[in-house]
Parts: sequence; C-alpha cells; structure tokens
Amino acid sequence: MSTDTQIFALIGNPVEHSLSPLMHNATFAEMGIDARYMALRAEKVEDALQAIRESNIRGGSITIPHKTSFMAYLDNVSEACRKIGAVNTFTCDDGRLTGNNTDWIGIVRALKELIPLEGKTFAVLGAGGAARAAVYGIREERGIPIVLNRTVTTGKDVAGEFGCDFSPLQDIEKITADCLINCTSVGLYPDTGVSPVRKNVLRNFGYVMDIIYNPLKTRLMKDAEEVGCSTISGLSMFVHQGAEQIYIWTGMTPPHNFMKKVVMEKLNDEGN
Ligand code: ATR
Repeated sequence: MSTDTQIFALIGNPVEHSLSPLMHNATFAEMGIDARYMALRAEKVEDALQAIRESNIRGGSITIPHKTSFMAYLDNVSEACRKIGAVNTFTCDDGRLTGNNTDWIGIVRALKELIPLEGKTFAVLGAGGAARAAVYGIREERGIPIVLNRTVTTGKDVAGEFGCDFSPLQDIEKITADCLINCTSVGLYPDTGVSPVRKNVLRNFGYVMDIIYNPLKTRLMKDAEEVGCSTISGLSMFVHQGAEQIYIWTGMTPPHNFMKKVVMEKLNDEGN
C-alpha cells in the first residue's frame, strides 16, 4: 500500500463472514488497480460516517443493518436506490456521498443469463430489501413480478408500491410463474436444511433462483433440481452486483469469470 492506494470499505455489522473483501481485493489486483477493500464493522450508522470521513475512503458497500438508515446521509441518491429504499454501494467525492443499489442489477443480470425477462412472470418470495430490489429490476426489464410474503401487510404494501400482484406465501400452490426467486433468508448458512417452500410446488415454475450463495446449493436449489426446474445460483447474483460496484467506483469493467472463480473456490474450500 502507498499514499496513492485507493481505499474502499464494506460497512455493516457483522462483516466478518463477507466474501466481498476477498472478491474485490483479488479483482483489483487482477485489473492492476492500486486499491484495497476492507471490512469495517460499524454498530451505528454514525460510526460508519465518521470512519468514511476520517479515513479518506473513496467508496464501498453498505450491508446489514445499515442499508436503509444510511440513505438519510447521502448527498445524491440514484433513482434505483430511492425506489428500492436501500443503498448497498456508495462513493465519496470530497466528502459528498452518492448512493447506488447494485443488488437489482445483480439479480437481473443473473436471470438474463438464462431467461429474457420481458413478458415473463416471476414469483418473488419476501418483501424486504432484497425482494424490493428483485421487483424493481424485473419491472425495469418489463417482466411481471408477483410478491409472495409470509406477512400479508408487508407483502401487500410492497406489491402496491410497485404496482404488481400479491399472494400470501401460504397460498403458493395456487401460483404458476416462469420463475420463482427466493429473496428471504430461509436456507442461509447455518440453517441449511430448510426451504421457504414445499418441494412439490416447485413444479409450477420453470426456473428457480435463490439469492443465497452460502451454501452454494441451498435446499431450495436441490429440491428444484430434483423436480426438473432449471436453477440460477445466488453466486451469479453476488458476482454481478459486485462487478457493477467495481464499475461504479473505477469506471472499468471487471473480469466477471475471474470474480466468479475466486468466490466459488473459497466456497468449495469451505465445503459449501
Ligand atoms: P432483506 O432486507 O435482506 O431482504 P429483511 O428485510 O429482513 O431482509 O426481509 C426478510 C424477508 O424474508 C421478509 O419478507 C420475511 O418475511 P416477513 O415479512 O413475513 O417477516 C422473509 N422471511 C424471513 N424468514 C422467513 C420464514 N421463516 N418464512 C418465510 N419468510 C421469511
């Protein structure tokens, strides 16, 4: 590191298990960019802001639990970020903070590798920030999202806001769509034995995507394969959202396959 090294940070709590530092540092090195990406645990969003200003941080990622509260401190907000109501990417220029959201781009690009979105129907499970990013992205690409959520009021609110249909998650057997996307945390490590939906309902969907990438193959993905659905992994979304972050920070397009290999090797090493 030198005085010219650009510093980027992941801000959240916890941050210890994130694969973003590994992915971004390997990619900066591969691209020959003099930059470092470090994880900064911040209990309060104000701690994060102080760290950004005092450490000359050029930009970074915002993760749980600050994705919504950080919005209030931004000087500029992208339209996607505002509509989704969550920021996962920021840049800092002369103390001015700009917020972006690359989660929706990650979801859309992962889907587009297999399905053209226009006119296709997508059952989106969940109504949190990840589900909002998915619904926003699907609408942007002229797809048709249907929100399914365990809590009816939250699900109806999200569907109403984005102008799409809603169904209670418990009624999922009545829904047929081209693709189902899990945007809940059900199945995330260490609770890997569970799935947000019963296996037999997966026959109503041609494609199944999980935004969870740890484990690489969730229970939902295993069930989907067993009933004959095509599957789209959370790893693909994770790499696409990270690649867009690097583009926002540097203006350069990073090597996608390299990024994917770095993350996949790490997850395979860990036996996931
Ligand atoms: P994020 O911002 O990362 O998407 P979140 O805001 O905590 O996370 O949203 C989590 C989503 O997962 C919610 O829609 C939640 O459903 P509720 O609104 O009913 O709480 C959903 N979720 C979490 N655990 C769930 C479970 N065991 N079964 C079904 N849905 C679940």
